[in-house]
Amino acid sequence: MMKKLSGKTALVTGGSRGIGRGIALRLAEEGALVAVHYGTNRPAAEHVVQTIEERGGRSFAIGADLDTVAGVTKLVQSLKTELALHAGDSKLDILVNNAGIGTSPTLEETTEETFDKVFAVNVKAPFFLVKQLLPILRDEGRIVNISSGVTRIAYPHIMAYNLTKGAINTFTLHLAQLLGPRGITVNAVLPGIVDTDVNSSWLHTPDGQKHARDMSALGRIGQPSDIADVVAFLAASDSRWVTGQLIDATGGSHL
Ligand SMILES: NC(=O)c1ccc[n+]([C@@H]2O[C@H](COP(=O)([O-])OP(=O)(O)OC[C@H]3O[C@@H](n4cnc5c(N)ncnc54)[C@H](OP(=O)(O)O)[C@@H]3O)[C@@H](O)[C@H]2O)c1
Repeated sequence: MMKKLSGKTALVTGGSRGIGRGIALRLAEEGALVAVHYGTNRPAAEHVVQTIEERGGRSFAIGADLDTVAGVTKLVQSLKTELALHAGDSKLDILVNNAGIGTSPTLEETTEETFDKVFAVNVKAPFFLVKQLLPILRDEGRIVNISSGVTRIAYPHIMAYNLTKGAINTFTLHLAQLLGPRGITVNAVLPGIVDTDVNSSWLHTPDGQKHARDMSALGRIGQPSDIADVVAFLAASDSRWVTGQLIDATGGSHL
């Protein structure tokens, strides 16, 4: 049977670890050729590529620091070169804006530098990445932005981070309208607490486990695959009539 994403190409930013890793594995399982982007952790990205290949999929890794627009430009250049090599042309079908700094200090402790950095990686980079990818993004393509449940659920101790995800939700709405005439859908997925490195310091304690489980109506902690499955739906043709939407994937947290 033909896989849902056979013949498609995908870029997953921050595909080296956590939720991005889960998304990269899932899209490859559906048949996409997946570009696994990493910031600093090249071995982790190469391990994802190796896992995909061992499972019969196709993938390659590309590194770029997303703190600056120059880093975004480097990512786009590498992507074009690698796509031409692996797919025969430089066209992209699916962009998943996942890379992000997953936390920030309290309002009182936030400096201009930490504020600017979280906005640079979480907002400025996806903005300029989309801008630079528009010429190679295929009509009927897909953009999936990884936002957060903190845009619905108050979590004031990571204020600057929360604002970045509010910006991503707004970006999703307006981009969907802008790209609709090309048949490109743009949606955001809003995870709750997911078991990744960013939460490991507190989540793997008895209190942390209880806190995270109690938040969800489903009574368990989110895993990267819970988010990846939603992204896979949004990346495939089944979701063609869904655009500009914020998909809550918090396991029913704080309903
Ligand atoms: N985990 C959660 O509970 C949760 C909840 C809601 C939303 N989210 C969102 O989901 C996304 C992924 O979160 P996660 O928990 O999976 O994160 P993670 O495990 O900390 O991984 C972050 C990923 O982003 C990349 N990255 C970070 N800073 C970068 C930079 N300056 N330049 C380039 N790449 C950079 C990392 O690359 P390297 O490691 O290679 O440097 C890594 O691949 C984020 O947008 C986050 O805000 C997470």
